[in-house]
Amino acid sequence: MMHLILADSELEIIPKKIIKHPAVRNSKSKILDASLHHAAMKGLKQWQRRGRPDIVHVFLLIANESILNKEGMLRTYVHTRNDEVIYIKPETRIIKNYNRFKGLMEQLFEHGKVPPENEALMEMRKENLEKLLDKLEGKRILFSMDGERRKLEDIMEEDVICIIGGFPSGDFLSPVHKMVDEVVSIYHEMLPAWIVGIEAIVAYENKFVN
Ligand SMILES: C[S@@+](CC[C@H](N)C(=O)[O-])C[C@H]1O[C@@H](n2cnc3c(N)ncnc32)[C@H](O)[C@@H]1O
Repeated sequence: MMHLILADSELEIIPKKIIKHPAVRNSKSKILDASLHHAAMKGLKQWQRRGRPDIVHVFLLIANESILNKEGMLRTYVHTRNDEVIYIKPETRIIKNYNRFKGLMEQLFEHGKVPPENEALMEMRKENLEKLLDKLEGKRILFSMDGERRKLEDIMEEDVICIIGGFPSGDFLSPVHKMVDEVVSIYHEMLPAWIVGIEAIVAYENKFVN
């Protein structure tokens, strides 16, 4: 089984501090989104990296439509900057429309699960990365440009936990380097989180599917 974690993701509800700013006041979205709320965000610390639900959206679309997921060999989690963890059932079809996806994220923050009425396909729990990792079994690989350059096929194990940063710039907020077995770089340039995700998934598929 591969466990895939998007860690320290920049997914959050609009902070109260900026709720009255004109760029936010008339916004339909309650999820902080840098593409809409940029003008208001300068009042927030670390504003340059925050408000990126689009990273979570693309990452989940790719992970949940992958062959590995269809084969039942992938579990995907989104850990957020405020230490919430979203558990995503493998059978979840991630909605392709970005605004509707943000609507679902809003529901998760509000009700803790989606759909709120029936059996949950996605569930949000207040939990830090360490707690999540304690529940999972497998070799822990952190993906980072600071890591040692390695071929993914060489380091993949049948039970593996792959951790990828869900933020556009800066470093991990969680003390993740202390929690892992290996820190790996896969290319000499910085790549988007979803590209690193699909590289890891395909490397695992090539080694362990069929
Ligand atoms: C856009 S990057 C975040 C930028 C941040 N400066 C960093 O390097 O962590 C998103 C995530 O993708 C992964 N990543 C990006 N480029 C990588 C590379 N060349 N090798 C390994 N992981 C990479 C890391 O997990 C990173 O946190």
